[in-house]
Amino acid sequence: MSPNQRKEDDSGGGPPAPERLPNHVAVIMDGNGRWAKRRGLPRHAGHRAGVDSVRSIVEQCAKYRIPFLTVFAFSSENWQRPQQEVSLLMDLFMSALKREAKRLCRNNVRLRVIGDLTAFSDKLCSSIREAEQTTAESTGLLLQVAANYGGRWDITQAARSLARQAVQGDIDPDAITDETLSAALAFSQVPDPDLFIRTGGEQRLSNFLLWQAAYSELYFTDTLWPDFDAAAFAAALAAFAKRQRRFGRTGDQVIDASPDRVV
Ligand code: FPP
Repeated sequence: MSPNQRKEDDSGGGPPAPERLPNHVAVIMDGNGRWAKRRGLPRHAGHRAGVDSVRSIVEQCAKYRIPFLTVFAFSSENWQRPQQEVSLLMDLFMSALKREAKRLCRNNVRLRVIGDLTAFSDKLCSSIREAEQTTAESTGLLLQVAANYGGRWDITQAARSLARQAVQGDIDPDAITDETLSAALAFSQVPDPDLFIRTGGEQRLSNFLLWQAAYSELYFTDTLWPDFDAAAFAAALAAFAKRQRRFGRTGDQVIDASPDRVV
């Protein structure tokens, strides 16, 4: 852990005020393999432990009343892993969907799976649809699971869809704006992530939410994903609460516009 991170993580006690909490948290869940290796276990044991951490962060988001959570379960590049690991990850994904859907529903969590699902087996696609349907009426947290997702894939499919509409004469190319492209992304209908967490010590975006993370606050921690517990999440929230989000403005402008500014 870097000295900066230690300073950031020092929450000073108590959870942040609700208005200092993120609306949308996105997570790259890295470190499952190393967690397993350190214990002399096969890599898939780390992925299995990683599912427990997903359950825990879902509960934490519900506890803090954070409305949107997006987790990166399988990237478009993860197909390059050894065939056995890919197939164990698919099995794990399927069994977790079957096992967790009812629990999510009981906890008023809605599940949405996002990514290029055409590469998945029919069996997995129908498990995904079933789990989404089981939780469709939930009105609490929206849990988005990115599977066979890549930020470049997302931008490309949005561009392709807009180009198709332009060719058909349904949209004027000059009328395409930031908002039009955003609306064509797989992650439309949800606000951009405010807090982008990556566990496992690496400090990169790995082709996750490239467009949507333009103004996300990045939080990197050495904690391996299976060890990312309630205290680790609280530390990330405390660090986020201390950030000044300027969106291109100056620090003074942000202070002047702050609703809790004392005049
Ligand atoms: C990265 O760790 C993790 C993954 C590629 C898979 C993450 C998947 C899960 C936690 C299961 C999620 C399941 C559901 C239902 C959402 P790594 O294997 O790259 O770890 P390493 O860097 O230590 O090798």
